[in-house]
Amino acid sequence: MKQFKTLLFAFFIVTQISFSQVRIVRELDNNWKFQKGDFENAFQTNFADSKWQTVTVPHDWAIYGPFDKEIDKQSVAIVQNGETAASEKTGRTGSLPHVGTAWYRNKFTVSAAEKSKKVILLFEGAMSEPQIYLNGKKVGEWAYGYSYFYFDITDFITAGENTLAVKLTNKEFASRWYPGAGLYRKVSLIIKNKESIDQWGTSVTTPFISKDEAKVNIKTKASGENGYLVTTIFDANGQKVSSDKVTTKFGNEFDQNIKVQNPKLWSPETPYLYKAVSQWFVGSELKDEVTTRFGIRDIKYEANKGFSLNGEIRKFKGVCLHHDLGPLGTAVNVAALRRQLTILKDMGCNAIRSSHNMPSLEQLELCDEMGFMFLAESFDEWAKPKVENGYNRFFEQYAEKDIVNLVHATRNHPSIVMWSSGNEVPDQWGDEGVKRAKWLQEIFHREDPTRPVTVGMDQVKATMESGFGALLDIPGLNYRVHLYEEAFKKFPQGFILGSETASTVSSRGIYKFPVVQAKDKQYPDFQCSSYDLEACSWSNVPDEDFVLQDDKPWVIGEFVWTGFDYLGEPTPYDEKWPSRSSYFGINDLAGLPKDRFYLYKSRWNKSEKTLHILPHWNWEGREGQVTPVFVYTNYDSAELFVNGKSMGIQKKNNTTPQNRYRLMWMDVKYEPGTVKVVALDKDGKAVAEEEIHTAGKAYKIVLDPDRKTIKADGKDLSYVTVSIVDEKGIPCPNAVNQLQFKVTGKGTYRAACNGDATSLELFHLPTMKAFSGKAVVLVQSLKEAGNIELTVSAKGLKTAAVTLNSSN
Ligand code: GAL
Repeated sequence: MKQFKTLLFAFFIVTQISFSQVRIVRELDNNWKFQKGDFENAFQTNFADSKWQTVTVPHDWAIYGPFDKEIDKQSVAIVQNGETAASEKTGRTGSLPHVGTAWYRNKFTVSAAEKSKKVILLFEGAMSEPQIYLNGKKVGEWAYGYSYFYFDITDFITAGENTLAVKLTNKEFASRWYPGAGLYRKVSLIIKNKESIDQWGTSVTTPFISKDEAKVNIKTKASGENGYLVTTIFDANGQKVSSDKVTTKFGNEFDQNIKVQNPKLWSPETPYLYKAVSQWFVGSELKDEVTTRFGIRDIKYEANKGFSLNGEIRKFKGVCLHHDLGPLGTAVNVAALRRQLTILKDMGCNAIRSSHNMPSLEQLELCDEMGFMFLAESFDEWAKPKVENGYNRFFEQYAEKDIVNLVHATRNHPSIVMWSSGNEVPDQWGDEGVKRAKWLQEIFHREDPTRPVTVGMDQVKATMESGFGALLDIPGLNYRVHLYEEAFKKFPQGFILGSETASTVSSRGIYKFPVVQAKDKQYPDFQCSSYDLEACSWSNVPDEDFVLQDDKPWVIGEFVWTGFDYLGEPTPYDEKWPSRSSYFGINDLAGLPKDRFYLYKSRWNKSEKTLHILPHWNWEGREGQVTPVFVYTNYDSAELFVNGKSMGIQKKNNTTPQNRYRLMWMDVKYEPGTVKVVALDKDGKAVAEEEIHTAGKAYKIVLDPDRKTIKADGKDLSYVTVSIVDEKGIPCPNAVNQLQFKVTGKGTYRAACNGDATSLELFHLPTMKAFSGKAVVLVQSLKEAGNIELTVSAKGLKTAAVTLNSSN
């Protein structure tokens, strides 16, 4: 059990110093008992759970597999994909055993002194339909697996041992992707005084900002009378900036305006964070203390100007992300989230959309710190179903409560610049849907008057007719590049957001011939080509979005589907077993970059030069055959050489979207050896070069950890990229050797992933095939610090080992 204690700082308010603990936040992470199945009496205190599995939370019960074609097999026509006849979809929700009922039980102790306090039980997500029991009594329930929710359990708690039991139920036909299963986000106990600040009771906004000063408005809800609230703002170095004391409450809310001189503004480039410490005194006794991290920043969305942050017009260079973390499943992990964001930052990405549900609080904290703008989404369905057992079952009863909790729990994150009330909801059709769109948007406005609301719309024509699109703060178009102009004319807002773009499909390191643009293209190996010319019938290749982003000042940016591959939705192989994860990612399921990473990087990352050659150059059997070479670069032109022979100079031009954004040599004939690209400046002078080589026989393994030193907290992860190379160290792009992993010392083997969407190997077993010459191994720390050694071996290859280190 982990305990965070809020202590008073000596330098702070010296007179009141007591070092008393006014609030305890205890994460319930260890010693959970878990069992799949339904048990009539599992809610009872004396239920015998000693034979149940002991797990830590966050936990995803389904990620350990096995993959099975029959799990949640859906015989449906996916209407929003334009299908009219039902067909069998096997990997749609990942083919992992997430369907069914399971129980978690946890025993925790509360002292007699704590028993006299107010106790809150907080869940940051529970998949799904949680029923919560404490000491044999039902505390409450929720429905949506992505919601944050809490209960006041003061009347249920006893001094001494308490037994918490949680029942979760996942129905089949409830999702369009892998939803995960279980207590996959944090569970905490909050023990505080009866007179205290409400859960999610602070709201910080920055309604006025100039160079010299910012007005920070802080609203604080607290229970108890005859007291006063002191709010003190600290800068990022912990220096006190200003403080304010207030005695008047309106209802249960204090309202303060505090001046910050020479404010440092939050932006993706300068993610500067302040802290507001709220202290609630009754009489003169400190009753509660809450710290809220916030940023000072200004957002505006204006007709014909677009979006501006701190007065500067900019576009969203965003990606959509599902919540699963590949081989970890949905169990939230800070190291995994940070790695994703690090990769995206390197690509020049500046925004994330949590498609199509509430993000983890950990992800928002990282976005605040690392500098990403955030589109926080809520629902994939309203009242009308996309899948039989989807959110439509809960909409009427829960939609308002779910939005209120989303806003209250996350509104102080400066990263959030926009809400979304829905994605491609079938309610885009019909009058009721227009009313629902208005209703939901008004709930967001009521709870947070500072941020606009969007809906990702795919039925753009219908929403033009019905008024649905016109009423939204931000009209979001999903795909439909051909309708942007018309939507801009018809909708009154004066700008359009590419709320979801591209849905280009590719498999890392796989290239198909002939190289032609295609929709819904399938191949016998169930892979997609990395020439990045294949998309779905409803979607498009990246370059078509780039044209709109670059030529239309009223397009305020895009959120590419998706930043990383995710479990489930293996389009275009929805009907093909064993495809079980997506092909849409710019990075694969292991987080390894596909070629598309460099296409986006060449546009988005202005501080680095990109010069990336594709395909690989190991095409035994293709000698003399046309094997086009593409270069993704922010240089305007380049000359290509194969074994020293020039293939000519290519220059970006406006003849087609591809010619505008890629350099392409379509007639190159394959011969083994070296492909070299030389980038040229305006005067034709060589300014940079890059080469790739044909690899010889696979010879050895090379290991490359993303972090050599990790925290000894039992949670932190090092992601070690495993590459198979030849004797000279050239990567072998076709290697598929079966790898064996062994971890010794102060760490454990956690999982591996190779990015192959058709692989049925289980992530948590210490062996996996390489895919396109690579795989990634996740090594987890223990709570004890020290050295950790990872050894990777494969038959016929030289073994490799790397020593990592964990510290406190
Ligand atoms: C969109 C949808 C996404 C995903 C994507 C695949 O229409 O919003 O959730 O299904 O298509 O292209």
